[in-house]
Amino acid sequence: MRVVVLPTPAEVGEAAAAEIAAVVAERPDAVLGLATGDSPLGAYTALARRVERGELDLSRASGFALDEYVGLDPADPRSYRTVIDRTVTAPLRMRPAAVRVPDGAAADLAAAAEEYERAIEESGVDIQVLGIGANGHIGFNEPGSAFATHTRVVELSERTRRDNARFFPALADVPTHAVTQGLGTILRARRIVLVALGERKAEAVRAAVEGPLSVECPASVLQTHPDTVLVLDEAAAARLDRAGLQSRDLASAAQA
Ligand code: F6R
Repeated sequence: MRVVVLPTPAEVGEAAAAEIAAVVAERPDAVLGLATGDSPLGAYTALARRVERGELDLSRASGFALDEYVGLDPADPRSYRTVIDRTVTAPLRMRPAAVRVPDGAAADLAAAAEEYERAIEESGVDIQVLGIGANGHIGFNEPGSAFATHTRVVELSERTRRDNARFFPALADVPTHAVTQGLGTILRARRIVLVALGERKAEAVRAAVEGPLSVECPASVLQTHPDTVLVLDEAAAARLDRAGLQSRDLASAAQA
């Protein structure tokens, strides 16, 4: 696990975008794993600038979103389908048919989740973009999620519903369930780039990087992944033991 700490959210966005662009440069038909939420927006914006300048072409790339609320119409402005279309597919000029989002409105949610898992397994994910919840969740794998989980329907924790209430008229309107890629699904990605910004994430980041492997902090499972980079601003890195360094490589520190 590599941890990169940068002074500003803009630099974090640029650094995360550079990780993604490097993968696409090597493989123009790369498969991207896509997170919604605030954390990756700077990276998506930085990628969009590269696309506009003609430096990056994502027209052959494809993507799989991490998660989707259960029960929202895909056209609902709060659905992750809509968010991904607006923040990723359109600005990055990806082919709409090549960017998939779990179906949270399917009549048979379990079957739809299984089919989504199979599609991811068949195509593989070259680079997975992640945010992290204040409770350590990745995707909607809440504390207590087993490390081997696959795409499935989950119940959202109270904390996650409160955190996401900002997008809805009231807490009662926040869906109670979601379809999410599992931790086992995420771990199959070849590379992972996790973005965390702000003091609110500092404790989750500490637990993910320096805590024990524990289902209490689902993101701690990333310690077992061979090619994960965390790109953090200083506030999100503030509780790490050796925060303040521009960049450090825990793997090599451990070997030293
Ligand atoms: C989003 C997702 C979530 C978010 C996390 C952080 O698709 O799966 O795990 O990454 O809740 O959200 P933000 O970035 O809004 O703080």
